[in-house]
Amino acid sequence: MSDLEFVKVERDGYVALVTIHRPDKLNALSAAVVRDLMMAFHQLVFPGDGERPRVVILTGSGEKAFVAGADIGEMATMTAAQAKAFADAGHRLGALMESAPFVVICAVNGFALGGGTELALCGDFIYASDKARFGQPEVKLGVIPGFGGTQRLARRVGLGMARELVYSGRLIDAAEALRIGLVNRVVPHADLMSKVREVAQEIAARGPVAVAAAKRCMLRGYDQDLVNANELEAAEFAVLFGTADQAEGMKAFLEKREPSFLGR
Ligand code: COA
Repeated sequence: MSDLEFVKVERDGYVALVTIHRPDKLNALSAAVVRDLMMAFHQLVFPGDGERPRVVILTGSGEKAFVAGADIGEMATMTAAQAKAFADAGHRLGALMESAPFVVICAVNGFALGGGTELALCGDFIYASDKARFGQPEVKLGVIPGFGGTQRLARRVGLGMARELVYSGRLIDAAEALRIGLVNRVVPHADLMSKVREVAQEIAARGPVAVAAAKRCMLRGYDQDLVNANELEAAEFAVLFGTADQAEGMKAFLEKREPSFLGR
């Protein structure tokens, strides 16, 4: 995967680190960056002969930005049809991250503006550096969020707060992002990656088939009525009773030892 121009992928056992690498433009999402992210996530989901990660950490290169938005230079001359294709590509990337059978933790190390906040929202949850800043400033450019910001932000922080942020384009700091539930934790800048690696390793040690099932339930159930969502959960719960990991997890508990999960 080292052949990607704008994305670097590193592995540490069951944890993969995906770094958006376009530091001279604060990791702004051009069409090529979105394409490289798609390819990176696609290869992590379908690793061929290699082993699939259980947790993926997504971050930005450099000290200043996670992603400072979609590439404004590129968008400035887009036709409506090109803008639709660009938004569709962003949505395909978000759908791939959300449907991936591993957890995606976004480590927001600086500016996460526009497409940056939207990309971070496609992960399962966010840890932020105390230097991070979030926002959906698209209306300042005469457009609206195009990678899911009007939808996922409201689902994460509630409709009222999302409306205020999207209509005003105002940026918020990490402390406010924590207060409104956009991020799970704020960490001193220098400690961000070690803290994220810690939680990634914790999750990677759990039953991966179970974690993937929980991810599916929470994503697909969230927009359904409670009766159907709970039915979905019951079906996913039952399926796990045919897995080696369920047998191992419960046997290990009864034998008072740590489980050794196989991921099947
Ligand atoms: N698209 C394209 N290029 C971008 C960009 C974006 N979203 N965000 C930053 N850049 C580029 C700048 O144009 C600059 O390039 P240059 O050196 O070739 O001129 C480089 O990244 C560094 O950015 P700069 O603005 O000089 O850094 P700063 O520290 O002064 O400001 C920000 C940082 C994030 C406040 C500022 O870059 C900004 O407002 N970016 C746009 C944010 C935005 O509106 N995003 C939503 C897009 S929908």
